[in-house]
This record gives sequence, C-alpha cells and structure tokens, in this order.
Amino acid sequence: MSRKLLVVGNWKMNLTAAQGVQLMQGLDDFFRGSDNVEVVVAPPFTAIHSVATVIDFDKMRIGLGAQNMYWEDVGAYTGEISPTMLKAARVNYVILGHSERREYFDEDDVVVSKKLRAALKNDLLPILCCGESLEVREDEETLEYIEEQIRAGLKGVNVTDMSKVTIAYEPIWAIGTGKVATPRMAEEVCAHIRHVIDDMFGLESVAAQTRILYGGSVKGDNAELIFAEPNIDGALVGGAAISADSFIPIIAAAMR
Ligand code: PGA
Repeated sequence: MSRKLLVVGNWKMNLTAAQGVQLMQGLDDFFRGSDNVEVVVAPPFTAIHSVATVIDFDKMRIGLGAQNMYWEDVGAYTGEISPTMLKAARVNYVILGHSERREYFDEDDVVVSKKLRAALKNDLLPILCCGESLEVREDEETLEYIEEQIRAGLKGVNVTDMSKVTIAYEPIWAIGTGKVATPRMAEEVCAHIRHVIDDMFGLESVAAQTRILYGGSVKGDNAELIFAEPNIDGALVGGAAISADSFIPIIAAAMR
C-alpha cells in the first residue's frame, strides 16, 4: 500500500503570529501541493489564527496542526486548550506525547492516551510521538521501550480510528542536537512500530496504511536518505522548520 509522505514542521515555542505568516508565504512560494507529499505546520497557539487565515486567504495547500491540547472539551482548566477549540480554529492535526511534553511537563503514557482518544473523538488527526533516551539506546532496550509507548498510547483506539493516527519516532538524543539517527537505525525502529500495530490490531492493512514519521535533526541534507527507507513515511521537523530556507529543502527531498 502506498502511503503519502507527510512532512510536519513543529515550530515549538518559536515565531510570533506575524513571523509565522511571513514563513507561510515563503513556503507557499515553493510548495503548491503535490500528489505524493503532504505538508503540515504546527505553530504555537498564539499564531494559529493568523496562520489559518493566511492559508485560507492564499488558498495554500499546507495543513495546520497544534503542538498539544488538553483532553476535556470545556471547563475550568486554566491555561489549557481543548480539542473542540482546535477544531473551531481550523486545526486538523495535533502532535501528542512529544518528548519535550513528557520530559518538561510530566506527561506520561496515561495522559498521552487520554489526549489521543479525545483528539479522535473530536475528529482531529493525532500524531503520536515516541522515542528513547540515550540511556535506553545504550542499554539496547530501544525496541522494547518504544513498543511499550506505542501500546500504551494507542490503548482503547479502534481499528477504524487508526486510519486517522500518525506515529512519529523521535529518539530524544537526536532532537535538536544535530545527531541524526542513521537511516538504518530509524528504519529498524519504524519497522518495529509497524509490526507492533499489526500485532495490536490483527489486520495487516491497518499497519500497512499507518504513516510513521522520523524526527530528530532532520535537515535538507539528510532527509532524502531517511525518506528512502521503506517504513519511514515522512518527518517531524523542529529546528529546520522555522525558516523557509531550511524547511523547503526537506519538502523538496520528500518530493523527489
Ligand atoms: P529537531 O526537532 O528537528 O529540532 O531535532 C524535532 C522535534 O522535536 O520534533
């Protein structure tokens, strides 16, 4: 089954609304849509409205994501943003369980799984992140560790909803460090994730249709080799996604 490559730019806590709009115009000059590649940006909450507006106004072929959300629809949760608010703001994708959320904001697998099910209930497309620390890798426990994160994160998800889920494998030691996993390392883990999904849902077609991204120091000069791997269906990009000059070469690599 052929899977459309997905390149997601995670802006993290970078760019004001005005800077975000400027970046979008730079991306739009290059990317006018493609049959083989989907491009999504995930701005901070304060820039989502402006980015959604420029996407609509200029009829850009770029999707909109959020970097996080809470699992309740509404209520007294100071500082949180709900799935229904994201939908109303024209957001389609939501990144969940990013290692920075897990590490700095104490999100565990239970929290991530609640958020994932709330996203699906509200018809958002979750991007479930997983990834091991350097210590886990050095102890040669990567595959077991990732398997546990995937099984816990996807707990309670039904077969039909799996068509909306994307997985992102992001080794923590490769995020923002310039140390990219070798394509072979990334492929080994992504293939294992596909195997775990197959095992969980008992349907080969579910595993075959699920997109699995790699993330961690993806740049224009390493993206092509990563995308060439059979079980890697795109990238979740951080640092290189906040300027058009560094993000465009990654999109271009996906289009080749
Ligand atoms: P990076 O971040 O590309 O800066 O390594 C990736 C991510 O955290 O999604």
